[in-house]
Amino acid sequence: MKALVLAGGSGTRMRPITHTSAKQLVPVAGKPVLFYGLEAIAAAGITDVGVIVGDTAAAISAAIGDGSVFGLHFTYIQQDRPLGLAHAVAVARDFLADDDFVMYLGDNFLLGGITEVVDDFRTCGNRDAQILLSRVADPTAFGVAELDGTGRVIGLEEKPRHPKSELALAGIYLFTPLIHEAVESIRPSARGELEITDAIQWLIDHGGRVHSSVISGYWKDTGNVPDMLEANRSVLETVDAVQEGYVDEASTVIGRVRIEAGAKVIASRVVGPAVIGPGTEVIGSCIGPYTSVSEDCRIEDSEISCSIVLRGCLVTGVRRIEESLIGRDVEVGMSRRTPAAHRLVLGDNSRVQIPS
Ligand code: TTP
Repeated sequence: MKALVLAGGSGTRMRPITHTSAKQLVPVAGKPVLFYGLEAIAAAGITDVGVIVGDTAAAISAAIGDGSVFGLHFTYIQQDRPLGLAHAVAVARDFLADDDFVMYLGDNFLLGGITEVVDDFRTCGNRDAQILLSRVADPTAFGVAELDGTGRVIGLEEKPRHPKSELALAGIYLFTPLIHEAVESIRPSARGELEITDAIQWLIDHGGRVHSSVISGYWKDTGNVPDMLEANRSVLETVDAVQEGYVDEASTVIGRVRIEAGAKVIASRVVGPAVIGPGTEVIGSCIGPYTSVSEDCRIEDSEISCSIVLRGCLVTGVRRIEESLIGRDVEVGMSRRTPAAHRLVLGDNSRVQIPS
């Protein structure tokens, strides 16, 4: 069995982060979201992994290399344009050959891994495809499955106005080579993409046995900022308190906080769950709860909660930042110049909310 990991796409909902980097590399609790999926694939005993990449190919390959650190072997597959999830399967046709495979969307987060579902699919041998489903409060924002009494899928609908169930398709699918016939048979959707839901519906319409398993653990599609922050909050709940960095006597660290090697916490208060990345300095500040600060940042005389701060940021004299995603090498600071005004240098598609 192989795996196909989708790490391309256009990432329009995560701009401006995706202008300069890949959304799959945004850290959740201090680790890129993509890494969790790769670790789950390795834990399931799969080693041969095709990685679909697009415009951010260089950033993805710099971060994950040849796969050896995960115990995996990567074959990079360039998708020239993000023409849909089923298009990615078509582009990977030669790599996938006649093997069964698990398709994993690189921005999806699943706690608890995929080992059980992969073992189940491997051993039962009587399924053409298997999808993972998660109960969600508002199914109208997702692909929604309709099941018969045995868990067999009898229909799929993309973002239905009147959903037939509360079961949303999670971004992890298991396929036999029959999916290639389906992908070759479908046409682009109204938004111009080859949709994987259409390919699975084609299987169902042609007598294919499409099974489902309902995920009991936490699943999140981190494709937009609020969902990314929510995944960060949920995963931080599982972080253990570790202090590898330095905390001075004037500081207070409360609850599950991971202070990584080379980090310094000086005259500050860090409330868990939180992660302070390697080499980051927190001075006279309040961090947390539910906050991940990546490596090599400097947070001085500031307050940050429920946020993700990427590497190399400088935040000085700002009270207070919450529910924010701050990209790499960003400076947020106070101005002592007159007139008292907001002076901004913002990349395209940035969003700023100022309480004044
Ligand atoms: P999506 O989040 O559905 O699509 P997107 O990345 O284009 O984002 P947006 O809707 O904000 O513009 O993609 C799910 C995952 O699959 C994500 O990791 C990107 C990847 N992907 C590809 O690799 N190729 C593709 O053609 C598409 C559509 C997505």
